[in-house]
Amino acid sequence: MARAMNASIVSPTPARIADAVNLLRSGGLVAMPTETVYGLAANAADGEAVARLYAAKGRPSFNPLIAHVANLEMAKTQGVFSERALALANAFWPGPLTLVVDLAPDATVSELARAGLPSLAIRTPAHPVAQALLTAFGAPLVAPSANPSGQISPTTAQHVAADMADRIDLILDGGACSAGMESTIIDARGECPALLRPGSLDPADIERHWPNLTRPALDHTAPQSPGQLLRHYAPQARLRLNASGSIDGEAYLGFGDQAATLNLSPSGDLTEAAANLFAMLRALDKNHDRIAVAPIPTQGLGEAINDRLTRAAKPE
Ligand code: TXA
Ligand code: MG
Repeated sequence: MARAMNASIVSPTPARIADAVNLLRSGGLVAMPTETVYGLAANAADGEAVARLYAAKGRPSFNPLIAHVANLEMAKTQGVFSERALALANAFWPGPLTLVVDLAPDATVSELARAGLPSLAIRTPAHPVAQALLTAFGAPLVAPSANPSGQISPTTAQHVAADMADRIDLILDGGACSAGMESTIIDARGECPALLRPGSLDPADIERHWPNLTRPALDHTAPQSPGQLLRHYAPQARLRLNASGSIDGEAYLGFGDQAATLNLSPSGDLTEAAANLFAMLRALDKNHDRIAVAPIPTQGLGEAINDRLTRAAKPE
């Protein structure tokens, strides 16, 4: 089907949610807000729609997608959950936790969306607009972050429009994402949970339910989470990390009580810093070639923030 794409930003009224469902049923691509970042949704069972999604992002097709479901019941039609995986889902869904589980025998998520893997990454988002869309659609939606592959994830509808409007069908506006950083990905298949991607759920919260979280060293020839590529989340500007101040006209992205071009959290709060990270990188990237970034503590959500900064700072 030929598509004249120039997606507009719409308010997520029931009528617009119904439009979005119709677009998805006919193979379209709809940007939806989640509590982490904006996702670009497609019908998980429709291989052609998924192929269009990979093309719109310029994403390598060896990098599988996360299936988004309305609830645990829908999740169980797609994945096999161990008792411990169930405990995590019960504790944190809906919310910013993605579980990698074995694929269920009758799963409908297309082979392309899984990049051919026998496992499935799956989560139930908490954002009311994502919930409304999934409930109305009634089946899983795959949704990578709604940005061109390798660039900064979007945390507002305007970010999505700036990057992707010419290649998608509709953008549902749910305001700024509250967490602002992608979900935490846990491989829940073995005896011990494995942290595949630090994200906006603190690993310490996971360990309260299932101790002995492992952090498998990333093997870049066969990464456990294929999206954990070295250069990712990257602005155009060059980043200099752990900088105590700016030199030679660099912009300074601060943290804590200090003078800065922009400050991730003047009070030194890591949750606030995570929520601001991508939007502030985008804002500085508009007017600066070089950005110096303050040191960020490594505990709690600082692990995810440092992960994103390290990938964003890798030279091309
Ligand atoms: O917060 C989020 O997770 C957002 C929102 C939109 O839900 N989505 C998101 O999707 O960040 P994406 O596509 O940008 O990142 C998905 C990550 C990739 O690193 C991918 O390699 C990994 O999930 N992944 C997907 N399926 C996997 C699997 N079966 N095993 C291991 N990693 C997997
Ligand atoms: Mg992404």
